[in-house]
Amino acid sequence: MSNSVLITGCAGGIGRALVSQFKEAGYRVIGTDVAECDGALDAFLTCDLARLAIDEGYGRAFSAQLRDALVGKQLSLLINNAAVQILGHMPEVRLADFRRTIDVNLVAPFRIAQICLEHIADKGCVLNIGSVHAVATKPGFVGYATSKAALHGLTRAMAVDFGPRCRVLCLAPAAVRTDMLMAGFEGKPDKFAELESMHPLNRLAEPSEIARFALMLATEAYFATGSTFYLDGGVLSRLHDPE
Ligand SMILES: NC(=O)c1ccc[n+]([C@@H]2O[C@H](COP(=O)([O-])OP(=O)(O)OC[C@H]3O[C@@H](n4cnc5c(N)ncnc54)[C@H](O)[C@@H]3O)[C@@H](O)[C@H]2O)c1
Repeated sequence: MSNSVLITGCAGGIGRALVSQFKEAGYRVIGTDVAECDGALDAFLTCDLARLAIDEGYGRAFSAQLRDALVGKQLSLLINNAAVQILGHMPEVRLADFRRTIDVNLVAPFRIAQICLEHIADKGCVLNIGSVHAVATKPGFVGYATSKAALHGLTRAMAVDFGPRCRVLCLAPAAVRTDMLMAGFEGKPDKFAELESMHPLNRLAEPSEIARFALMLATEAYFATGSTFYLDGGVLSRLHDPE
């Protein structure tokens, strides 16, 4: 029987890499997003996580769609990958944007994990995609950094609550070379080189490296639950004092 994985945010930079990595590993891959997804999915479910976070009926309807997409099989793995990053400094952060960030990045992963428990096989796994912003952030990232810190906490709390029934892990990357990140540095090669140089490995992660590590956590790290694994090129280990 093949394994099944549900990947949220499957249309995004890291989401697409996760889809192709798990497909290559022989998984039945079910993706969700609000955007269209061109990856090689076995099934695609449109789901607005902002709505899923506040509307229980919408969650029940999603659960029914997921049951159909699983075609009689159980789910082995949920990857909570989708997130929003709405930037703004404290004086002008809109309450609605702060709440939306918490809804999509924290409440939705909680709710979708709750829904998936109805479908997840014994000894299943939930993998949350966190961020280095959970522990070290920069100005303008208050909502995003808070949501990721809480997601790392949710990982621990769900792991304790699920016990042996389902492992819960978190993979926290530093900056990843997605198309969107690279577009932000177009015409600014010096700024990009500066960002790279802040990492002791002097480069950013590739989306495929995040996906390979996710597969390893899902399929080999069987004694790990509640833990957050940083894939950060060493950026969290160094001070950025001037030399
Ligand atoms: N790219 C990086 O440098 C980086 C670094 C650390 C952590 N991360 C984390 O990795 C994950 C993926 O990031 P990415 O760079 O691929 O981002 P991305 O913006 O390319 O993809 C995010 C996806 O989430 C979807 N999404 C957003 N709001 C949604 C909603 N309301 N309902 C359903 N789907 C929604 C988007 O449509 C998009 O396809 C995120 O959790 C992010 O916080 C990314």
